[in-house]
Amino acid sequence: MSTIAEIKATFEREISSCTSVAVIQDLKVKYLGKTGELTALLKGIRDLPPEERPTFGAKVNELRNVMESTFSEKLTQLKRQEMELSLKNEKIDISLCEMKPWGALHPVTLVKNEICDLLIAMGFEVLNGPEIETDYYNFQALNIPYDHPARDMQDTFYLADGILLRTQTSSMQARYMENKKPPIKMVCPGKVFRSDSDASHSPVFHQIEGLVVDKKVTLRDLKGTLEYIASHLFGKDTKVRFRPSFFPFTEPSVEVDLTCSNCGGKGCSLCKGTGWIEVLGAGMVNPKVLENCGIDSAKYNGYAFGMGLERIAMIKYGIPDIRLFFENDQRFLKQFGK
Ligand code: PHE
Repeated sequence: MSTIAEIKATFEREISSCTSVAVIQDLKVKYLGKTGELTALLKGIRDLPPEERPTFGAKVNELRNVMESTFSEKLTQLKRQEMELSLKNEKIDISLCEMKPWGALHPVTLVKNEICDLLIAMGFEVLNGPEIETDYYNFQALNIPYDHPARDMQDTFYLADGILLRTQTSSMQARYMENKKPPIKMVCPGKVFRSDSDASHSPVFHQIEGLVVDKKVTLRDLKGTLEYIASHLFGKDTKVRFRPSFFPFTEPSVEVDLTCSNCGGKGCSLCKGTGWIEVLGAGMVNPKVLENCGIDSAKYNGYAFGMGLERIAMIKYGIPDIRLFFENDQRFLKQFGK
């Protein structure tokens, strides 16, 4: 009986000073393991005189129960403590980092993303094309031969014989059609270059080109697509108007106007009192362009449109001067941050 009391006393001392899960596992083995102290007592019961066995046995079992429940309580408690400690140590104190100010997407990028997302939803594939382009893709494949007066509309930066900075993303029309069979639905945003500079012209600016080639495409399809884009960019009441125009690579060609987003069509200084704002050029793909790219114009037709992204952004955000886009003045750019 005195051994039981001794074991109990040491156990209580040891367990109360125990501070780690690892040590408590060792203690458990020490007392309750196969060769543990209490296990030895239990095994020793059979060597006792029969009349002593019940009381002794009951005492040993009682101690074993106490030990087992103490171990499990202590174990849960220590595990929780260790978890709390590691959570505390692993915590990342973000207040120590220097917080960098938020950046903002450039307004041209915002408009580009918005238009691309709309067109992607309609099944268009988005492409990027080369900014350094050949005369062939920029002009000739688009039905603009060397002596064509349409070349004068776009003051070109020539780099070398037959090599230039593309003046229009339309250059991607031929590049794309050469390698693809209809049905075609592509959109190509990117930089274009023209030797021109004032409040509404910049030597570098951005366009987005759209091209659809399929069977039985109509001018009405073109208008529907443009109406969809315009209503998302400028509000659902925005109307689209076609005016006859000329581009060598589309026939018929149209200049596309939208109802002025500033006055809703009543007439203001932005739309010079007309209620309409010109935003892009478009038309039905000239069959000659299809043929230049190896597409049978008796079977297929299509539409194309090209718009200036700065122009769209200027109207959408009320920006008065195109040069603001390229000056990198943070006071201007910051306004487009979230
Ligand atoms: N590329 C023409 C321009 O820069 C716009 C356009 C694109 C017109 C596609 C018709 C079809 O002015």
